[in-house]
Amino acid sequence: MSTNSGTQPIDATQTLDAGARGRVVIYQNAEALARAAAQAFARITTEAVAARDRAFVALSGGSTPKRMGELLATLEYRDSVPWQDLQILWGDERWVPEESEESNAGVARRSFLSKVPLPVAHIHPFPTEGLEPDAAAEAYGVLMRTIVTMDKGLPRFDLVILGMGDDGHTASLFPGTDAVPEQEVQVVAHHVPKLDAIRLTLTAPVLNAGREILFLIAGEQKALMLKRILEGDESTMDLPARIIQPASGTLTWFVDRAAAAELTLPEASPDGG
Ligand code: 6PG
Repeated sequence: MSTNSGTQPIDATQTLDAGARGRVVIYQNAEALARAAAQAFARITTEAVAARDRAFVALSGGSTPKRMGELLATLEYRDSVPWQDLQILWGDERWVPEESEESNAGVARRSFLSKVPLPVAHIHPFPTEGLEPDAAAEAYGVLMRTIVTMDKGLPRFDLVILGMGDDGHTASLFPGTDAVPEQEVQVVAHHVPKLDAIRLTLTAPVLNAGREILFLIAGEQKALMLKRILEGDESTMDLPARIIQPASGTLTWFVDRAAAAELTLPEASPDGG
């Protein structure tokens, strides 16, 4: 695997400046985006372990990050990640058993975590069986604060991977739900009316505490929403992905050309300043 220590990930066709919402790196297609995400995963976790002996990652569900995971399990990337020193958690989960095809942890474990030398004890799925949802959310918060290094009362992930729904949700922060503005409780379980389903999710303060937050967004169906998120001024209650603004870390949007089609942001300066 060719690594690129510069700020410009290889294969990027263009980088835009989204101001307080970080930088948007545009890739030719979803596969190039997934490859860049796998490279970023390897780089960020390697740097974290070099600096602090451990790395904490919050994975996302959804289809876009799945291809990144599959690539991480290939010979091209697998040995570039310090798996033994990684702790894997999730930004959100569906209220289903891990065996379900809907399970974020189940999909990740089956598609790549079971195929890399990551100790099983370093995989920390949400508990979605044997507890009521609220108790499960509380238990995950206790686990998260036990595993992840704390900073000013918040668990500080080295890498937070997020997707964005075409309704502007991210993690399981869905428009109009009380989980979006939650600033005290770090993990909530809530019924999402739109889905008529229960979801568990980290809240914005935890996600925004991440050292590097990486959105992975592909497909023309996301283009108008991405423009609203990055260039509009609608409320975060209506467009939860707008609530993601790192407290002190970096925010980068890896998007493909189809999802970037409506953006009119300026080019980012080459030095990333
Ligand atoms: C989930 C994710 C969710 C996802 C978006 C985008 O549990 O589904 O956490 O927030 O990231 O729905 O999903 P796609 O990447 O599949 O479009």
